[in-house]
Amino acid sequence: KKVINAALLGLGTVGTGVYKVLKNQEAEMEKKIGATVKLKKILVRNLKKAAAKIAEPEILTNNWKEILEDESIDIVIEVMGGIEPAKTYIMEALKAGKNVVTANKDLVASHGGELLDCAAANQCDFLFEAAVAGGIPIIRPLKQCLTGNHLSEIVGIVNGTTNFILTKMTQENMEFADALALATKLGYAEADPTADIQGYDAGRKMAIMASIAFNSRVTFENVATEGITRISSKDIRYARDLGCVIKLLGVARNTDTGIEVSVQPMLVSEKHPLASVNDSFNAVFVHGDAVDDAMFYGRGAGELPTASAIVGDVFDIVRDILFSCTGRIRCTCYKTLPIKNQED
Ligand code: NDP
Ligand code: HSE
Repeated sequence: KKVINAALLGLGTVGTGVYKVLKNQEAEMEKKIGATVKLKKILVRNLKKAAAKIAEPEILTNNWKEILEDESIDIVIEVMGGIEPAKTYIMEALKAGKNVVTANKDLVASHGGELLDCAAANQCDFLFEAAVAGGIPIIRPLKQCLTGNHLSEIVGIVNGTTNFILTKMTQENMEFADALALATKLGYAEADPTADIQGYDAGRKMAIMASIAFNSRVTFENVATEGITRISSKDIRYARDLGCVIKLLGVARNTDTGIEVSVQPMLVSEKHPLASVNDSFNAVFVHGDAVDDAMFYGRGAGELPTASAIVGDVFDIVRDILFSCTGRIRCTCYKTLPIKNQED
């Protein structure tokens, strides 16, 4: 029986989801991908707090070096969030020949190019399907299935927390603060929800998608963002009177003069398909010259939907390892193209 060892960094909402999904898949993995993925170590800050969450507390550690120096660990799954120490750990893991999966859009949006270069130099995979739109497969379609197109536009609802808040304010007249508290309780919001409600999280996801779709290097600094903090129940009522709902939309365009990426609240006609994307669901429209319009829809946040995307990446890496073809699904984006900044 072939076993591939993995390590999990972080055991919060998403980390717990990954633990559960791997457990649920245990009996089927061998048949599906030709090996069993074993979580050999889990890195946490507080061993006692984490011990209550899993059946094998002996695999918990608060020492990163124990994972880094364990040559039997082939895959590192980073779900701690933030830039540091996540970036250092990922770089060290890649340099040690370990493949990496992350859900960390902050990191990918600001240092994705560098991390992809490091992965390529060390012949490792660096995958981040969960970093955009939670459980919806969108990174892989952009970098694989749709590469036969000139992609010109991406429009989407890519933040579950703000979509949940706007839905509750629209359908249940809930107050902003109460809806945010509920989104946090349900595990949708970031550790610091400022990134959600100010549109930064959606901006980071749009930057990642624009980079891949337009074969470019778009970072968060290139994205004009406005969040939903100024939306009041009065705005929701006005929108309703106009036959519209308010949605936080991300828009990325590849034009003749450059790339434009923005995130802002917009009025969407109640008849438009995006108007019925509610709660923590996300949706992404992509326009390509050959495919025309394609739409991707599903749960954009939360424990199990996000874990679904992460475990999909882990299984892809296992297939690469078994067939000695690491890098098969490598992203070849990140060349420099003209990017229109906010002031342009
Ligand atoms: P949580 O805050 O729930 O979990 C993060 C966990 O990582 C916490 O348990 C935290 O420990 C632990 N951690 C943080 N720093 C360290 C460290 N230095 N060493 C060891 N453990 C550490 O966040 P989420 O699970 O919600 O998110 C994790 C990542 O996934 C983030 O990058 C987020 O943006 C991304 N993501 C989240 C989604 C969601 O729906 N929640 C969806 C898609 C992506 P402690 O408990 O001690 O603070
Ligand atoms: N906080 C994020 C959201 C998690 O609400 O969409 C998923 O990336």
